Amino acid sequence: MELSDQVALVTGAGQGIGRASALALAAAGAAVVVADIDAPKAEATAEAIMASQRSGRIINIASIAGKGYEGTSNAAYAASKGAVIALTKTAAQQLGKHNINVNSVCPGVTRTALSDANLHIRAQQEGVSLEEMERRRAQVIPLKRANDPEDIAAMVVFLASPGARNITGQSFNVDGGLIPD
Ligand SMILES: NC(=O)c1ccc[n+]([C@@H]2O[C@H](COP(=O)([O-])OP(=O)(O)OC[C@H]3O[C@@H](n4cnc5c(N)ncnc54)[C@H](O)[C@@H]3O)[C@@H](O)[C@H]2O)c1
Repeated sequence: MELSDQVALVTGAGQGIGRASALALAAAGAAVVVADIDAPKAEATAEAIMASQRSGRIINIASIAGKGYEGTSNAAYAASKGAVIALTKTAAQQLGKHNINVNSVCPGVTRTALSDANLHIRAQQEGVSLEEMERRRAQVIPLKRANDPEDIAAMVVFLASPGARNITGQSFNVDGGLIPD
């Protein structure tokens, strides 16, 4: 997928989904701006990109938590992600006249430091090993596997690509089928 002449601003690019998305966007030819409150990690991502390589594409990272996923960690988190989805719809309507597309990706369970922390807590709560907790977590996913960060990054790259030029205001699940909508 070719993204040359495109500029991507990735927040949270120091690790996890943000880092994987920054690397994937750079590999697809975009000029990537790396942003993270953890400066050393942001620098590490920028160094990893190596190559320097423009349009109006805003890609928000929401969550299936914002669509009613019952396994969400807490209600405030779900509410914040629902707000990201609403922001995506309204921003798409308002920015369309500037030829700016606005979409969201809604990850399901994705293997990052964030979900690792949740896994540890749930394993403790349920009194099982991490491996058993991971197995139980995957078992309820129709495709029987959690996401890797690169699964989210692939959707980010698609939404930034020419093929997605007429897609806006949408929030796409990448969740192995965990929730139906
Ligand atoms: N991991 C999952 O299972 C999962 C599922 C659904 C949605 N998400 C969403 O995906 C996004 C990334 O999650 P992750 O799992 O990669 O998390 P992570 O904790 O692994 O990485 C988050 C990165 O964002 C940076 N960061 C935090 N606050 C920031 C701020 N205000 N400005 C700039 N950078 C900031 C952190 O320093 C860190 O580098 C989050 O919005 C999360 O809610 C994750």
